[in-house]
Amino acid sequence: MSSPQFDSNLIMHAVRVTEEAAIASWSQVGRGDEKEADRAAVEAMRDTLNTLDIAGEIVIGEGERDEAPMLFIGEKLGKGGVAIDIAVDPLEGTTLTAKAMDNALAVMAWAPKGTLLNAPDTYMDKIAVGPGYPAGVIDLDKSPADNARAIAKAKGLPVNEITACVMDRPRHAEIIASLRAVGVRVALITDGDVAGVINTTNPDTGIDFYVGQGGAPEGVLACAALKCVGGQFQGRLVFRNADERARAARWGIKDLDRKYDLHDIVQAEAIFCATGVTKGMLLDGVKIGGGYVRTHTLVMDSLTQTVREVRMQRPA
Ligand code: FBP
Repeated sequence: MSSPQFDSNLIMHAVRVTEEAAIASWSQVGRGDEKEADRAAVEAMRDTLNTLDIAGEIVIGEGERDEAPMLFIGEKLGKGGVAIDIAVDPLEGTTLTAKAMDNALAVMAWAPKGTLLNAPDTYMDKIAVGPGYPAGVIDLDKSPADNARAIAKAKGLPVNEITACVMDRPRHAEIIASLRAVGVRVALITDGDVAGVINTTNPDTGIDFYVGQGGAPEGVLACAALKCVGGQFQGRLVFRNADERARAARWGIKDLDRKYDLHDIVQAEAIFCATGVTKGMLLDGVKIGGGYVRTHTLVMDSLTQTVREVRMQRPA
């Protein structure tokens, strides 16, 4: 499948989409209402997407048509133009936003039509590492400690100089204990594993790898980001009940135990955008004051492996 022309114009239009979602959800920071924060981001994202010269279809969104009024999987967006798959998490970190905590983002990825994995809304076991490692340095089928050792070896460091990012959840107690037992530092995050994965690509964060179970849709978005900077990722869908298995079947997934690599999940060139809602390790949050609104966005293009930071200011 050839890459669509994600020219700089179109890329800047994509930036507008996450900027508007971040600004809309910022009005809900600290107000304790996760649903309203999400709704504001969804509405702004959808309205902005509909102004663009694209023939977009949501493949990762807010759920299926019967459960999501907007940005549901299969929803068509745009005024017509280049045919693209759209993956969105209009507000990655609804709880972070409602509680005015750091690291909430508005996130979106685009790829040519038919090239993003239609991941069902289930959990996914994930492991990710940033660029610069030999292929195969991480393996989901190995223990977290063995993965840490492999990363340490590749970096030429002792394992106790490696830091893993893990979501702070009871289900991760064993992973956390096994990493600490071999001396790995564990940086716990309360939410937001798209940012958790992206942190592995930025040496300033001090995070070497990400491991643990989070949302499968977030896994697809994280892969789009990693593809733009050359990281490695493996994921396996986790099904908790018959309903989730049936959902996967509807999505055409036959091998429920399949181990996915980054390139199985994002099968062509992609672009990725994230705008900070609240300040975080990656990005500043939305700022409103002095009659202006300011945003900070990360935008990446896998074709050219370009990473840009865009700071926007306009009258509020
Ligand atoms: P929301 O944006 O829906 O709040 O999701 C945040 C998130 O932390 C994701 O980053 C992560 O993949 C998922 O929730 C983990 O789910 P759970 O909170 O059930 O462990």
